Amino acid sequence: MTQMETDKTSRRTFMKKSAALGIGISATPISTVGQQPDEHGHDERGVLSEKSQALLKRFNLKYPIFQAAPGGEELAVAVANSGGMGAISLSWDAPELAVDVVTRLRKATKGNFYANYVLHFEPNSLDQVLEAGCPNVQFSWGIPGKNVVAKIRNAGAGLGIQVSSRQNAERALEREPDFLICQGLEAGGHVQATSLLFPTLQAVLELAGDVPVLAAGGISTGHDIRNALNAGASGVILGTRLMATVESDAHDVYKSSLIDAGEDSTVYTICFNRDWNATHRVLRNKTFLDWEADGCPDTGNKPGEDDVVANHPDLGPALRYETVPPLQGHEGALDEMAMYAGQGVDKIYDLPSARELITRLWKEFENT
Ligand SMILES: Cc1cc2nc3c(=O)[nH]c(=O)nc-3n(C[C@H](O)[C@H](O)[C@H](O)COP(=O)(O)O)c2cc1C
Repeated sequence: MTQMETDKTSRRTFMKKSAALGIGISATPISTVGQQPDEHGHDERGVLSEKSQALLKRFNLKYPIFQAAPGGEELAVAVANSGGMGAISLSWDAPELAVDVVTRLRKATKGNFYANYVLHFEPNSLDQVLEAGCPNVQFSWGIPGKNVVAKIRNAGAGLGIQVSSRQNAERALEREPDFLICQGLEAGGHVQATSLLFPTLQAVLELAGDVPVLAAGGISTGHDIRNALNAGASGVILGTRLMATVESDAHDVYKSSLIDAGEDSTVYTICFNRDWNATHRVLRNKTFLDWEADGCPDTGNKPGEDDVVANHPDLGPALRYETVPPLQGHEGALDEMAMYAGQGVDKIYDLPSARELITRLWKEFENT
């Protein structure tokens, strides 16, 4: 590396660290409820709203920090073992595989986790997964039918639904969920939201009553958590931030790209729509820039759309514009694949373990 590059890298790291530490961000403290530190010497219950405390109690959590759907099994176990809520995406797994995943997770952690289903796709493994003892199920991109909710309740499992507007929150609440996730436009991955997190959160909170609402989109630091909880959220969802951890199943190239990314690195687009035509937020890369330069053509006219950009021993070839991100095991032009990232990516500057990250964020939260 030349001296100039070194200077640029350290300046960039410093700027990202400053942003991550919340320099320049102010927040009002949440009033304490006067409880004593727990057996871990940890006093989060003393600084949380009653609704957040109820959420912790309901799901037996130490922190109101939920993993978003991606990241894989190892990350779900690490988050759950650290006192957060682990998550596993089961939308695209065959029932036998989904059952194996849930069985392994149940063995690997005494903590809690949920299975995520994107309702654009049929939740084919739901019955089997509930039978295997999946403790909680969460849906996005749709509202589950009454029969689906009945199955979940009969199995004794918890229910979460992602919403993105006052209108769909109203419908979701008819299903009497245990929690709502309110996603904002800042989010990485597939973005159901059409407006920014905080205005949507306010609108959803006005309807939610006692139902806890978790904030999703652009949350990377303890300061972000403080801002979300001050705004009335009972907890937060971390997607992109947790992808840049030791245990996440993201490929190292993807993790490095998240660390290097800056304020203007993400784009909200429909570029990577080969197998699911939905809006998403990714890092701008060669695939996106070539497609954009060509006038954002429809499928059939996209540049290089039949290119195999990478291969995976289990997942097989990945075509350009497919939705799969670079995962461990992928080989090829990994930085030309969909590298999902939320707007909080600018505040990611390192690759901690999930436990280190969660404890650090919580300290930042408490010190804000
Ligand atoms: C790599 C990646 C994959 C995602 N996959 C899913 C998914 O399978 N199902 C889903 O409901 N949301 C998915 N999301 C969106 C997250 O659930 C969440 O809304 C988002 O990550 C929050 O924003 P953040 O990334 O800025 O934290 C994904 C997000 C990322 C970054």
